Parts: sequence; structure tokens; C-alpha cells
Amino acid sequence: MTAAKSPDALSPAEALKREAAARALDYVRSGMKLGLGTGSTAKHFVDLLAQRVAQGLEVVGVPTSEATRAQAESLGVPLATLDEHPVLDLVIDGADEIGPDFSLIKGGGGALLREKIVATAAQQMIVIADASKKVARLGTFPLPIEVVDFGVAAIRRSIDKAARAAGCQGLLTLRRRPDGHVFVTDQGHLILDAAYLSISDPATLAARLSEVPGVVEHGLFINLASRVILAGADGVTVLDR
Ligand code: 5RP
Repeated sequence: MTAAKSPDALSPAEALKREAAARALDYVRSGMKLGLGTGSTAKHFVDLLAQRVAQGLEVVGVPTSEATRAQAESLGVPLATLDEHPVLDLVIDGADEIGPDFSLIKGGGGALLREKIVATAAQQMIVIADASKKVARLGTFPLPIEVVDFGVAAIRRSIDKAARAAGCQGLLTLRRRPDGHVFVTDQGHLILDAAYLSISDPATLAARLSEVPGVVEHGLFINLASRVILAGADGVTVLDR
């Protein structure tokens, strides 16, 4: 793994993510069992956490993806599995959109299933993001829906029906990797990205999608985050629910 860039070399957008990640460290205490999120913002957090660990902070991390596991391992952050620690003190993770009541769209990095399992196992979820992620209504970012690799055409039809019942309609795109191959999640599933554009009732959509056979999980995180740390041009803001 390449060494993390020094903060001076970061683009303005990356610098904001790092600022949000740095503030999240204020809530980490020695002895904590920590869920470690996935994505570029969570990556900054793991990097900064590793620096504290090197200085003597004693934590154990449960990664939400193989990418985060590899990063944390390479930086010397002690890791455990969720089976070893089924209750976590805190999870720190990024988000693709943060809506009213801290409802979230997650899964842009494809780790939504493990992220949701880990967030549900944690006593507190703190979301770290640059301020552009905060929105008045969810849906501009396509909603990732993780599905099994069987009968995808039929699953799509069922998803469309379920979404329409929740007032949402939009194209479902099978996620591909940059090299054109189908994207496969760490759990061996596929992702359909749903361009709903506007989700007026995230809780109802979440419930409907969860009922579709073949849907393993979706990227709507409802009532999971309790604190959001946003970094913008005017500084870092901590919001509590
Ligand atoms: C990964 C996620 C990420 O938290 C989300 O995509 C945000 O990523 P980034 O910090 O790179 O913007 O849900 O599955």
C-alpha cells in the first residue's frame, strides 16, 4: 500500500474529508471496540487512527470491507471480527448523502451490507463527510441495492414494483468496475444502482425494498447515525440527533 499523502499535498476536497475524520478522533477512547467504515473519508479516519495507535491509543477495529481491513492491517491498527466482538462501542463511517433525521444513502463504495451490519452492532454511529453530502432530500446520489446473483431481471422487476409503491421510480443500473467487469461485493453479491432522484419517504422505501426476495440489503440507513461531522469551507460542524 502506498504511504498516505501528507495533509499539505491533499486536494481541497480531500482536505475537508480529513478534517472531518480528524474531529471524529475526539470521540474515540482507549479500550473502545470500533467499527471502521469504508470509502475515501473513512480511509482518512483509519490513517489518523493508526497514528494515535502508534502513540499508545488502545482500540480494536472491526473493518467493514476487505479494503479497510487491508489498510488498517498495513498501518498496524489491531483488528478483530464482529463474531469476536458482536457489540461495538462506536462506528465511524462516511456517507454518500445525509438527509433529514440523519437518514443516509451509503454504498457508493459497495460495502453497504457489512457497513449496515456493523452500524447496527454499534452503540453509536458517527458519520464523517464533507459538507456537500448534506442534502434536503435523499436521492440525487443513486441508491445502491445489493442483490443475489440469481434471477437479476426478475429481482429488478420486483424492486421497481416495490419502489413505485413507495413513490419512487428510476433506472436500475448494474454496477461495473472501471475495467468493465461486473462489480462483485465482498460478500459475493451484485449491486443495482437506483436513480430515483428524489426519495420523499426513505423509511417506507427502505421497508419495501427489504421485502423483495433477492435483495440482500439496500443503502438506506435509517435511524442508525446519531452524530454527523461535516467539514466545509467555514470549518467543521458537529450535528447531533
Ligand atoms: C462505502 C460507503 C462510503 O461511506 C460512501 O460511499 C462515502 O464514500 P466517500 O467517503 O469516498 O465519499 O458507503 O460503501
